[in-house]
Amino acid sequence: MKILITGGAGFIGSAVVRLAVARGHEVINLDALTYAACLENVAPVASSNLYTFEKADICDREAVDTLLARHQPDAVLHLAAESHVDRSIDGPGAFIQTNVTGTYTLLDAVRAHWEARGKPVGFRFHHVSTDEVYGTLGDIGLFTEDSPYAPNSPYSASKAASDHLVRAWAETYGLPVLLTNCSNNYGPYHFPEKLIPVVILKALAGEPIPVYGDGLNIRDWLYVEDHADALLCVLEKGAVGRSYNIGGHNERTNIDLVRTICGLLDARRPEKAPHADLITFVTDRPGHDMRYAIDASRIQEELGWTPSVTVEEGLAKTVDWFVANEDWWRALQARDGVGQRLGTSA
Ligand SMILES: NC(=O)c1ccc[n+]([C@@H]2O[C@H](COP(=O)([O-])OP(=O)(O)OC[C@H]3O[C@@H](n4cnc5c(N)ncnc54)[C@H](O)[C@@H]3O)[C@@H](O)[C@H]2O)c1
Repeated sequence: MKILITGGAGFIGSAVVRLAVARGHEVINLDALTYAACLENVAPVASSNLYTFEKADICDREAVDTLLARHQPDAVLHLAAESHVDRSIDGPGAFIQTNVTGTYTLLDAVRAHWEARGKPVGFRFHHVSTDEVYGTLGDIGLFTEDSPYAPNSPYSASKAASDHLVRAWAETYGLPVLLTNCSNNYGPYHFPEKLIPVVILKALAGEPIPVYGDGLNIRDWLYVEDHADALLCVLEKGAVGRSYNIGGHNERTNIDLVRTICGLLDARRPEKAPHADLITFVTDRPGHDMRYAIDASRIQEELGWTPSVTVEEGLAKTVDWFVANEDWWRALQARDGVGQRLGTSA
């Protein structure tokens, strides 16, 4: 399959690019190279004749039209987004621009491309979204594909808006879409402003490890390479117009997660143990959702997909990857805002 992947220089997009090329797909990586992008993430496949990079902004209709006409993809896998909740609190405009206007621009360009090619039946527009569109859970219950949308942050509201646009383009124009809503990802190449890399890198540096609020917020963690595998599974086997929740069956409180990472580092750097002594509770994120948890039974029952690693296995791999790839994360730590506390302006 020839797949145009947007956001393929980011954390999850690059995992999809690497996996898709490894499986023999032809990949066009369309990315604007924002602060969150890193082309080193796709270095393992950059010289493959199955891989092409195109620097472009999904908000630029002319550029998107040109690239669709040039490459004639069989599918578009849309991951390009502003993705950091804390940044969305300080500067929501960029999130509306890329996640809402950008998704609209891309969708409409893809519709024109699909219509101009005679509406090929196998064509797919696969939109990658988040479980955060469903808002927050109490102590019990899980998000299903039928949970009502109730986004609480500018990030999740912009993703919810993009999901609605995708649905409307399917209902109104018949565009063959797929939608996936995934829980929190972690793993290799995770940008060093997100929780898990922050914890690993602060601990390695012997600096205070910031934990928001009381640390009791719960997330359902999915190893990024499992997410990439699930996305290709949905792209190949998903029913047109259907949405699928993707989760890892790995609910953890933030504080438990941080302690697990500290334990993994104690085993690898015993001279600095116990790393948990560095844990420092800091002011909570405004509007911080209490609990996310995914009911992934639809993707399991209908498409036969389940994650391959537990959070303990995935965290161990992730810690080892960060320990072994200091050059990668050191370069990104110099980028604007990385390492600073963001998202307190509300
Ligand atoms: N990270 C998670 O835990 C998670 C969970 C569920 C869903 N998602 C969704 O998965 C997708 C990828 O997330 P991520 O964590 O890899 O994000 P990321 O921030 O690591 O990467 C985003 C990529 O998109 C590119 N991009 C941003 N704006 C663009 C634009 N206007 N035009 C073209 N490219 C642009 C960036 O350059 C970057 O390479 C997003 O849509 C996000 O909402 C993320």
